Amino acid sequence: MFKKLALSAALALALPVSGALAAGGEAHVEDFKFSFEGPFGKYDQNQLQRGLKIYTEVCSACHGLKFVPIRTLADPGGPSLPEDQVRAYATNFEVYDAELEDFRPAKETDHFPANTSAGAPDLSLMAKARAGFHGPYGTGLNQLFNGMGGPEYIASLMLGYTGEEKVEAGTTFYENHAFPGGWISMAPPLAGEDVEFDDGHPNSLHHEAQDVAAFLMWAAEPKMMARKQAGFVGVLFLTLLSVLLYLTNKRIWAKVKHQKG
Ligand code: HEC
Repeated sequence: MFKKLALSAALALALPVSGALAAGGEAHVEDFKFSFEGPFGKYDQNQLQRGLKIYTEVCSACHGLKFVPIRTLADPGGPSLPEDQVRAYATNFEVYDAELEDFRPAKETDHFPANTSAGAPDLSLMAKARAGFHGPYGTGLNQLFNGMGGPEYIASLMLGYTGEEKVEAGTTFYENHAFPGGWISMAPPLAGEDVEFDDGHPNSLHHEAQDVAAFLMWAAEPKMMARKQAGFVGVLFLTLLSVLLYLTNKRIWAKVKHQKG
């Protein structure tokens, strides 16, 4: 009985993995050390601000972030921009106002605009959608065993271009090692030195890829730090409760134990 169970469990685990390999060729995702990994990991405010800049100047030309309210850029634990900078930042975008029946500059109370003009998917939740890497074959095993998730995938995607191109049915595809299937219709968005940082932080392709991936992780999970903190407090309480229960238990049975039989 147990053997049978173990066998079917092993099969259930093995099948999706081989399925992913069969479907995706060898999608290669690198492991990066992000500041927000691990039980005490935190977002790096400066990195999020750099990622925001890359998103704004490069990615937002094609992609939207329609689920992210612009005001959250001021939230503690996030990019933590000062309120006046958030207000000024909002005016970078235009949104359609149903009341005015016209476009107007965005305010901090608006969301980032949606943008699907280039056929590009919305990036609000991408870092979580790709947590187990890609599509129906993403099993999450890499995340479980290697702590690798969506941000690693996104950074690897930025770095995975080989320079090869092909045209199929009028669409250009670019070879990319990280993309399952190996060919993506997004032209390499970053080449290195695409944006300048005020503090002179390095802007090589490797740095930019990680900064924008970290920003997209924050966009998808802005409350990660609060969640980790709540989890930690929960574990502390449970530990305390266990100790108290153990002591109570000892006390309740103490009389019985010390009876001379
Ligand atoms: C010129 C337009 C354009 C720009 C600029 C652009 N993208 Fe894309 N992106 C696309 C398109 C089109 C797709 C869909 C590709 C596909 O599915 O073949 C895409 C898909 C993606 C995906 C999803 C890949 C997947 O697993 O399905 C991610 C992640 C992504 N882009 C990140 C970025 C980031 C980060 C930037 C900025 C550094 C960026 N993109 C800039 C057009 C663009």
